[in-house]
Amino acid sequence: MPTAYSRPSSNTRSYIRRHDLAPQYEYLRSEINEALGRVLGSGRYILANEVHDFEREFAGYIGCDYALGVGSGTDALVLALRAAGIQPGDEVITSTYAPTPTPAAILMAGGIPVFSDVEADTCLMDTRNLEELMTEKTRFIIPVHIFGLPCNMREIAEMARKYDLLVVEDAAQAHGSRIGDKKAGSFGSLSCFSFYPTKNLGGYGDGGMVLTNDPGYHETLLRLRNYGKQDDPFTSYVQGVNSRLDELQASVLRVKLEHLDRMNRERARRAEMYRKGLKDTPLVFLNTRPGYLESVYTNHHILTVLCPDLRDALRAHLELQGIQTNIYYPTLLHQMPAYSPFVKKSQGFETAENLSRQALALPLYPELDVEDVEYVIEKILDFFA
Ligand SMILES: Cc1ncc(COP(=O)(O)O)c(C=O)c1O
Repeated sequence: MPTAYSRPSSNTRSYIRRHDLAPQYEYLRSEINEALGRVLGSGRYILANEVHDFEREFAGYIGCDYALGVGSGTDALVLALRAAGIQPGDEVITSTYAPTPTPAAILMAGGIPVFSDVEADTCLMDTRNLEELMTEKTRFIIPVHIFGLPCNMREIAEMARKYDLLVVEDAAQAHGSRIGDKKAGSFGSLSCFSFYPTKNLGGYGDGGMVLTNDPGYHETLLRLRNYGKQDDPFTSYVQGVNSRLDELQASVLRVKLEHLDRMNRERARRAEMYRKGLKDTPLVFLNTRPGYLESVYTNHHILTVLCPDLRDALRAHLELQGIQTNIYYPTLLHQMPAYSPFVKKSQGFETAENLSRQALALPLYPELDVEDVEYVIEKILDFFA
């Protein structure tokens, strides 16, 4: 696999990155600089107006009563589980097709991760085998809306009701995704977002958010994120941590929230170009299943296609043409030394492993030149010709 692309001197096209954050800053420069200047000049940098306004605005956008800004998406998961009363040894079902923060957060909160296999056409938690994973210790389900595609929340909610479990959505990749009119992040008892810079709504550093409709959880979260304190700044009521979204990040995120739907539409437009341009190749796009998924709107956080054979050869070919791709996820959670001890002996993950061998993420971000999308399509067509 070639690692660095050195552009031939006759070729003036620049390297096409899978995503690039600089053009977005250029596009929003004046609004962002104005927001940052406002905060810097205010003299208030932690838990002041920007965070509180952003919490209210993001809660309204997702459709929840409460939102609480925290230090990262990982912290959002840890604190959500703690607010919901996780006890040491409680089992938390999540999917193996997810990044490391999800099981890391479960363990940090004192829980035990239990991994499900995924659906072959979505990479999402397969709800059909959830029942097999239940034990008397199961307390939570964390569906992960991977690549921005929402999990089947209706079936997950039914399962949670049947077994008296709480659902904590990991919506870290799903800002603006929805099922029907209902946004990802508004289904669980609690939901968690990340504002890591590459997310569809990303800051210029770490940040995260927990959302809920439950005033009790909100009250607990207010304390947990700030050393267990609330009104009295010198008394800890519970054993909390320091995990606070900061004013600078909040001010940037407020600007970007205004642009989120437009930016998601720009992603969708480019995804559709890929879909049409590549329809006669062996590449398979995720989420094409009729039925439930027809009502699903993805924010196209990552455009992963499946390349049944020759994935690595296609990747190498594109790299040589100056096109960056990526693989999410080359190693699945159940395969990692850190998490394999939690895999039950009888478990198989054939579908997830099969998908991970085929997955290839193509360049996609809102500011990506459409000529570059056309170029990528052309080079993929060349490969299959
Ligand atoms: C699905 C998922 N969950 C959790 C996280 C953790 O977010 P953060 O990096 O903000 O801690 C991420 C992002 O990295 C993610 O993609």
